[in-house]
Amino acid sequence: MRRRLLSLAALLGGIALTPLQAAAQGTLNLYCSVQIEWCQAIATNFQRDTGIRVNMTQRGSGETLAAIRAEGQNPRADVWFGGTGDPHLAAGEENLTQAYESPNNANLQPWALTQWNQSGRRSVGVYAGAVGFGFNTELLARKNIAPPACWADLLDARFRGEIQVANPNSSGTAYVIIATLVQIMGEDQAFDFMRRMHPNVNSYARSGTGPIKAVARGETGVSLSFVHDAVTERNAGFPVSYATPCEGTGFEIGSMSIIRGARNLTQARRFYDWALTEPAQRLGFEAGGQLQTPSNRNAPLPPNAPDLSQIRLIEYDFAKYGRAAERRRLIERWDREVGALPR
Ligand code: G6P
Repeated sequence: MRRRLLSLAALLGGIALTPLQAAAQGTLNLYCSVQIEWCQAIATNFQRDTGIRVNMTQRGSGETLAAIRAEGQNPRADVWFGGTGDPHLAAGEENLTQAYESPNNANLQPWALTQWNQSGRRSVGVYAGAVGFGFNTELLARKNIAPPACWADLLDARFRGEIQVANPNSSGTAYVIIATLVQIMGEDQAFDFMRRMHPNVNSYARSGTGPIKAVARGETGVSLSFVHDAVTERNAGFPVSYATPCEGTGFEIGSMSIIRGARNLTQARRFYDWALTEPAQRLGFEAGGQLQTPSNRNAPLPPNAPDLSQIRLIEYDFAKYGRAAERRRLIERWDREVGALPR
């Protein structure tokens, strides 16, 4: 009887499964580090497509790495979807994730496979996005402040208390920004720059998208953000625009990894394969309003999404800045020399 039910479920495909049928397909524990709307969309759609029940937890990239580390001996998650690529690389190096080769790798952009090769086949690219400045056009116009065009502008007194950026302990976005500055300026100069920018920073937010949401609400004039997140806010009707730094900028390869010791490995691989398909990659924009560049070559760049080929990108050294010790060292230095400064 049970087998008949299952094959009927398979035949009916798109039709919602009863809890009994869903239980037969098993469960997937998903850690998700993109914006909540996209996390919810993939959980709902994957569950509908496969009958596999999804328990999803959304957290920033740094926070998720910390959770996976803490649970190393007793993993609670099966797959980690999204978030900046560096902490995925660190997790791989610490043997917290496991290698997997999806048949859908054949459809991916070269940069998605670079991440896969560099991680020892443990992490694959699912999207890419560039760092830049988001700003509230109405607020800046009202205060008569010209928006920033270059990193160097961020030190200008006109931005006093006007800039928001995230904290690299919790946010992968903030770490990409630090690693970008270090690569553009040299390490000591980058830390000097961040110390001098500190009087212009009104807060170091927990999440990478906190600052651009504060820009959208008119709570701060400028954010250091992924520029696709600025377009998401503009599409939601807020007076938000963005610029990419004249000196060049860094970028992320948003990644996905299967956790070592995953209790639901079959379901984890099924999700991983599914997340690399074109329809699944369209969901970021269509259901979640997200505007990253998808890694599946057949998934279109969403309308008005930042076009990475038009942005002056640095040759971000993922191997170096994805190393666990380098990441820890730079974040500790930020804590001591920037995060601890009085306001
Ligand atoms: C947003 C961006 C993603 C990025 C993520 C990182 O969701 O749209 O492209 O990967 O933030 O979040 P975090 O909180 O770790 O900076």
